[in-house]
Amino acid sequence: MSGAFRTMAWQGDALLLLDQRVLPGVESMRRCTDPSSVADAIRTMVVRGAPAIGVSAAFGLVLAVRCAWKKGRPWRRAFDEAATELAGTRPTAVNLFWAIDRMRREAAALPDDPAAAFSRLEESAVALFEEDVAANRAMGAHGAKLLPAHGSVLTHCNAGALATAGYGTALGVIRSAVASGKRIHVYVDETRPFLQGARLTAWELMKDGIPCTLITDTMAASLFAAGKIAAAVVGADRVAANGDVANKIGTYGVAVLCRAHKVPFYVAAPVSTIDRKLPTGKRIPIEERDPSEVTHVMGKRMAPDGVHVYNPAFDVTPARLVSAIVTEKGVLKPPLANALQKLFR
Ligand code: MRU
Repeated sequence: MSGAFRTMAWQGDALLLLDQRVLPGVESMRRCTDPSSVADAIRTMVVRGAPAIGVSAAFGLVLAVRCAWKKGRPWRRAFDEAATELAGTRPTAVNLFWAIDRMRREAAALPDDPAAAFSRLEESAVALFEEDVAANRAMGAHGAKLLPAHGSVLTHCNAGALATAGYGTALGVIRSAVASGKRIHVYVDETRPFLQGARLTAWELMKDGIPCTLITDTMAASLFAAGKIAAAVVGADRVAANGDVANKIGTYGVAVLCRAHKVPFYVAAPVSTIDRKLPTGKRIPIEERDPSEVTHVMGKRMAPDGVHVYNPAFDVTPARLVSAIVTEKGVLKPPLANALQKLFR
C-alpha cells in the first residue's frame, strides 16, 4: 500500500481491480460483479502477482455466493463451479490455490442459508486481504535489515503493492528500508515480455519518490560487473519444500549473476507462497503464455509473422543460489530445506 493507489477494493457487491494492463498511462478500475469476471481479470492480467491473484480469487468466490443468493439458487454448487473456474486461470502461483482451498474449508462449515454463507465468506475474504497487507509489512520490517545503509539494489518483475493486497513483498522490503532511513536506489529490470518492471515497478517506485533507474534485462550483467549492485530482491510465485523458487522469467538469470559477483540474492514471499507438497522446484507447473507477448510490444509486431516462439512466464531458481527467503515470520537462511521445515513445525 503505497497510499497513492489501490490495487483492489471490495465494495460489498463488487470487486474493483486496478487494470494493470494499461498502466502506467491510464489508471482505471475494472468492476467485477460475478466470479467469471474475476477469473477473466486474472487470466488476462488485469490483476497479477501471486498474492493479488489469491486475494482476488477469494473475493470471486464471495461473488459466486452472492450471485446464487440473488438468483435464488443453492450457493454451494455455484461456489464449487466458481472455485474450479478460478483455479483454472493461472497455474504457477500457489497463492491462488492456497486462497481457494482456505475459502473451501471455511465454506464446508457454513449453513445452507445463503445470506449467512455470504456474510461469513465475505469476512473470510476481507481477513485474507488484511492478512496479506500485514504479512507484507512484517516482511518489510524483517527484510529491511538485510539491505545496505546506502547502495543500489536490483529488482525483477513487479513484487509491489500492485502484486499484493498492498505494500508489496520485494518492494515492501525496499519501502521499509527506505522508511528506516536507508539510502536505497533501485535498478528496475524492464522484465520482457510483459514489462512488469518498466510499466509497474517503475511507476510504483516513482509514486513513492524512491530513487530508481529503469534498465532493459540485458543491461543487468554489466551493472553487476561494474560493482554497482549491492543486492537483488525479488518476489516469488511458488517456493518448494527445498527452497527452490519459481518467479518471473529472468529471475534465475539474476540469481546466477548474483552468485557470479558475490552479491546476495534475496526472495521476499509470504508463507502462503510456500508449497510444502512439492519436494523440489522441478514439479512446479510453469505457465506458457501467448506467443504474441514475445512477437509484439504494446500491440506492435516486432518479429516475422509465423516465427516459432517460446514464452514461459516463470523460471525456477535453485535453492543453492538463494541467500535468504524473507517471510512474515522471519528471515530463512540456508540450508533452506531445514529452515522451511522448522517454519512449519
Ligand atoms: O505474471 P505475473 O506478473 O503475475 O508474475 C508476477 C511475479 O512473478 C511476481 O514476482 C510474483 O508473483 C511475486 S508478487 C509479490
